[in-house]
Amino acid sequence: MSLTGVLRPGHVSIRVLDLPAALTHYVDRLGLIESDRDEQGRVYLKGWDERDWFSVVLREADAPGMDYMGFKVDSPATLDRLAGRLREFGCKVERIPAGELKHCGERVRFDSPTGHSFELYAQKDYLGTAMGLQNPDPWHEECLKGMQVQRFDHCLLYGDDLDGTVKLFTEVLGFHISENVMDGELRIGCFLTCGMKAHDLAIIRHPEKNRFHHASFMLGTWEDVLRAADIIGRFKIPLDIGPTRHGITRGRTIYFFDPSGNRNEVFSGDYTYYPDYEPIRWTADSLGGAIFYHDQALNERFLTVVT
Ligand SMILES: [Fe+2]
Repeated sequence: MSLTGVLRPGHVSIRVLDLPAALTHYVDRLGLIESDRDEQGRVYLKGWDERDWFSVVLREADAPGMDYMGFKVDSPATLDRLAGRLREFGCKVERIPAGELKHCGERVRFDSPTGHSFELYAQKDYLGTAMGLQNPDPWHEECLKGMQVQRFDHCLLYGDDLDGTVKLFTEVLGFHISENVMDGELRIGCFLTCGMKAHDLAIIRHPEKNRFHHASFMLGTWEDVLRAADIIGRFKIPLDIGPTRHGITRGRTIYFFDPSGNRNEVFSGDYTYYPDYEPIRWTADSLGGAIFYHDQALNERFLTVVT
């Protein structure tokens, strides 16, 4: 259901230092499915319940981090309309031809006041799931690998001009604010949604531009989050924090790092957001519980380690 013309987060391109090590992590441990590679050496992955061809692109590079995050829009007409509005807002807008990423139509790339690169696209090839669309089973043996990640869900990004990027996403792209974190009248965190999830993008105020905090993947249940914790222990994956619950969005979560130092989250559960909802407000004096509800305290690494 598109409430804004922007359907959902569709992909994230993540830089990794060592592609084979990254593939062991993202395919064998998280359970993403490799769906293609290209002549640039990029590898395309998807979750078992995702129908489009890919949602994660891994690119080998000298430094970890996020290249860009892409959102799917509901039509080529919406893509053109939003490209124009992004230009009017003052974004640097680049149209990337269809096929530059395999299986993906034309992309409209734009920068943001926090220094991050985002994209919109209207078309991506259909790959489908192992269950299919006719009389589908609820799951298939292909789904049972590693943490059994169902799909890419959202990113959390750090940057300086938080209010500028919030203005861009709300006024130009029609996102809604589900939750704000306030220090007095200064907004220090914002959770944004383009549909009915509690968040599709989160941004935290931070002195530097263009920092990547985490990419998050959805699991089915809290039990699956605990199973992910077992896999983290078994394969000695560096743990950040969890399993725990967020006050913000209510997600049940665990954070850990890929072999390049990029933070990942797997989580289950949030709430249904409706566009007539007023934003939830968190105050700085309750920040511990807002982030980690069980401990009611923050972990310094969670606040400061970004790629
Ligand atoms: Fe998250």
